[in-house]
Amino acid sequence: QDHIRQMQTDILEKLIPHDSSGNVENLGDLNVTSNLGKMTEYYFMQGGKMLRPTVSLLMASACNSSTNRRILKESQASCQKSPQSSNLSVCKNQYKIGMISEMIHTASLVHDDVIDEANTRRGSASVNAVWGNKMSVLVGDFILARTTQILCSTKNPQVISVMAGIIEDLVLGEFMQMATPPKNTTPNQKMTAYIEKTHRKTASLFANSCRSVAILADETNASLQNLAYDYGRNLGIAFQLVDDLLDIIATENEMGKPTSIDLKLGLATAPVLFATQQFPELAELVARKFKNSGDIEKATEIVANSNGIKMTRKLIAQYSEAAEKAASSLPNRNEATERLIELAISQSDRKF
Ligand code: FPP
Ligand code: MG
Ligand code: MG
Repeated sequence: QDHIRQMQTDILEKLIPHDSSGNVENLGDLNVTSNLGKMTEYYFMQGGKMLRPTVSLLMASACNSSTNRRILKESQASCQKSPQSSNLSVCKNQYKIGMISEMIHTASLVHDDVIDEANTRRGSASVNAVWGNKMSVLVGDFILARTTQILCSTKNPQVISVMAGIIEDLVLGEFMQMATPPKNTTPNQKMTAYIEKTHRKTASLFANSCRSVAILADETNASLQNLAYDYGRNLGIAFQLVDDLLDIIATENEMGKPTSIDLKLGLATAPVLFATQQFPELAELVARKFKNSGDIEKATEIVANSNGIKMTRKLIAQYSEAAEKAASSLPNRNEATERLIELAISQSDRKF
């Protein structure tokens, strides 16, 4: 928690450094005339969950515990010990991975809100609703540019490559989501494509951030790196499945944001895909992306009467359990490992 609080301040300072008179460095007049600074910090100031850095730092600490040998050798300056729990320590570069994970996530949300034509995010006006699409796209790019600077400062080519892969996956995931599958695609193929899309869109960020902190813990330990990756991938898929489920079953009041967004965007997620296997007439609505009047209500009703919700919960449980298994297999379990396990288990009954 201490690391995470400090990280929120550090991210803002890396994004838009201020000089001693409070002016935004390097941007000068450009900031005054274009609101670049305000736009850049906008989503970071709204108090996101900081889930990605939390997972990255916990995984860093869990991996470091299995490789004490290396951590002990590191200079005090490159390691940060959490004041309250002396067992949990992360290195400077691992801390940077936490920052980078949140920054890539936020940049992707800025672009996502432009693509989805969203008016709100976290209960406030979206960045594009306030400043328009054109500047929002550029601000997303600006956040990515500053993120790249931090990534390069790790001076670890393997980590730079793994983290750059996340950005590629985000773009490919978004493309997969927009693609219309060929007419003869089977239900099984649709489900496989949905999971692949979910990996790229959401899980890759968790998986590759976890892999990166594991590389930084022990460059030579491929099995540790793979366990960290597996944990992140399975947690990430479970997390997105829960999001997709809540979008269909939760009320706007519970979520604090509009629901059925996916149907409105023409997207068929796990509950709909399962329901289509049971009620093939739903396929027609999916194919026309719920465009006809009454389609969204009809699809919601069919899903509610189907086993789609139950099957999605079962799938969430499978991915949570796979994440739990990966974390449990990490050598030298410590407090952070236990927290990772709890986080995986808690996905099954997450309500928001
Ligand atoms: C939120 O999903 C969006 C994502 C998880 C990824 C979006 C990725 C891009 C727009 C590609 C470009 C990425 C970068 C880094 C420049 P959602 O729309 O399902 O969820 P929401 O309810 O949070 O909007
Ligand atoms: Mg969106
Ligand atoms: Mg989207």
